[in-house]
Amino acid sequence: MTQEELFKKLIAHSKEYGFIFPSSEIYDGLSAVYDYGQMGVELKNNIKAYWWEAMTRLRDNIVGIDAAIFMHPRTWEASGHVGAFNDPLIDNRDSKKRYRADVLLEEHIAKLEEKIEKEVEKARKRFGDSFDEAQYRSTSPRVLELQKERDTVHSRMVKALTENDLAELRQVIVDAEIADPVGGTRNWTEVRQFNLMFETKMGSVAEGANSIYLRPETAQGIFVNFLNVQKTGRMKIPFGIAQIGKAFRNEIVARQFIFRMREFEQMEMQFFVRPGEEMQWYEYWKEFRMSWHRALGFGDDMYRFHPHDKLAHYANAADDVEFRFPFGFKEVEGIHSRTDFDLGNHEKFSGKKLRYFDPETGESYVPYVVETSIGVDRMVLQVLSAAYVEEELEGGDSRVVMRIPAPLAPVKAAVLPLVKKDGLPEMARSVVDSLRFDHNVQYDEKDSIGKRYRRQDAIGTPLCITVDHQSGEDGTVTLRHRDTMEQRRVAAAEVPAIIGRECGLRTLLEKLS
Ligand code: GAP
Repeated sequence: MTQEELFKKLIAHSKEYGFIFPSSEIYDGLSAVYDYGQMGVELKNNIKAYWWEAMTRLRDNIVGIDAAIFMHPRTWEASGHVGAFNDPLIDNRDSKKRYRADVLLEEHIAKLEEKIEKEVEKARKRFGDSFDEAQYRSTSPRVLELQKERDTVHSRMVKALTENDLAELRQVIVDAEIADPVGGTRNWTEVRQFNLMFETKMGSVAEGANSIYLRPETAQGIFVNFLNVQKTGRMKIPFGIAQIGKAFRNEIVARQFIFRMREFEQMEMQFFVRPGEEMQWYEYWKEFRMSWHRALGFGDDMYRFHPHDKLAHYANAADDVEFRFPFGFKEVEGIHSRTDFDLGNHEKFSGKKLRYFDPETGESYVPYVVETSIGVDRMVLQVLSAAYVEEELEGGDSRVVMRIPAPLAPVKAAVLPLVKKDGLPEMARSVVDSLRFDHNVQYDEKDSIGKRYRRQDAIGTPLCITVDHQSGEDGTVTLRHRDTMEQRRVAAAEVPAIIGRECGLRTLLEKLS
């Protein structure tokens, strides 16, 4: 199965099993907007809990807030979003399709890199054990030619983006002979800047109403509350403020399912530090955030750092954590050193001091900020795409199993009476009732036990508990594990502790400390 086929199957599976639905589907959907179904919302909540516990509960110096989505319009002037939160867009005159110019170039670069890797792999097969990869890369004329082409496109793109030179950006596309991925022609318009913020009106009468924006990042709610939290929480630098909430961007190219949406959710943390200490904290947060991802157990090779080619208007250093999605390595999280850009500008625009008096140095200063910013929806996609497995079983049978890490699984356990009689349903219901207070559990009595196991595999339930005739006699049940399909008998009284141990967030959080 190709990665493309896998991705299509994953999208269909997500809908069939109640993870993700297209928004307002009965009206043919709304582009790049999705709804989370009964399984999706549980998965999403578990991801958020994992982040929240790791970032706030386990630490003395990070607290959370929940700021409003609407903010005073001046916020977005101060933050630079009104002036600089733009994407360069380009249209194809024939297909009438619109693209992000930088994305067209990045995809072209990725194709060149793929070609280089294919050349290297071919040579590795040809030369066998005697293959010297470094030497091959530095001498093969074909590889050198592709590498030169890649580096030229890359450096011209970065320069054009940094200098905001839109004519040159278009020229790079033309020179690289990039064709419209849909129509195949090269009939490109000029490149224009497009602001990504959604604007709306506040007040009941449109006339005279004030324009406000739907926030494009949650971070500004933290910056404007910096002193409120610092003073009321008696926080001492270094300290952090964390927040989970919706953000909105009028994305030009919204593709790849929930990867790039117009309404999405972010989990952000701003860490306030002494000026001059930001780079050491930047390194600290890079490492910590990578370990948070790796603790999920999808394999270390599924992640990499990617330094930004073009820094956002607020950053002096930025790295992405990229995950290997079925459509390649892509950003799930950004770690940014934002200097004193935001607090400094809010001081200027609001006329209010946003300074911290440092009792250790006796100085008053605008703190520097290191930010970690991760998309909840991209995390959901990460987990779904890493978890989806089609397995051939003995006897010619097959199953789809979602190997979701147990602490994130929507349903922790399913309780199944072997048959629908002899008092087994009542016994199974009493097991469910005893578990409900602590865990999300399901009761299922419909169809054969095999079909019920498959249904639970398909939503990633780590444990199935079967109640049979023996259960009435000796108080034991059968416990079946999703991944190994192994079954063992355990005392029903032990089940709550087993679920807690195997499915609790603690198993993940302990890996971080
Ligand atoms: N406060 C910094 C900030 O917003 P960003 O790199 O623009 O930085 C942070 O966004 C994260 O938010 C990204 O790494 C991604 O996971 C998520 N994100 C951004 N735009 C998104 C979109 N259109 N759809 C889904 N997630 C998005």
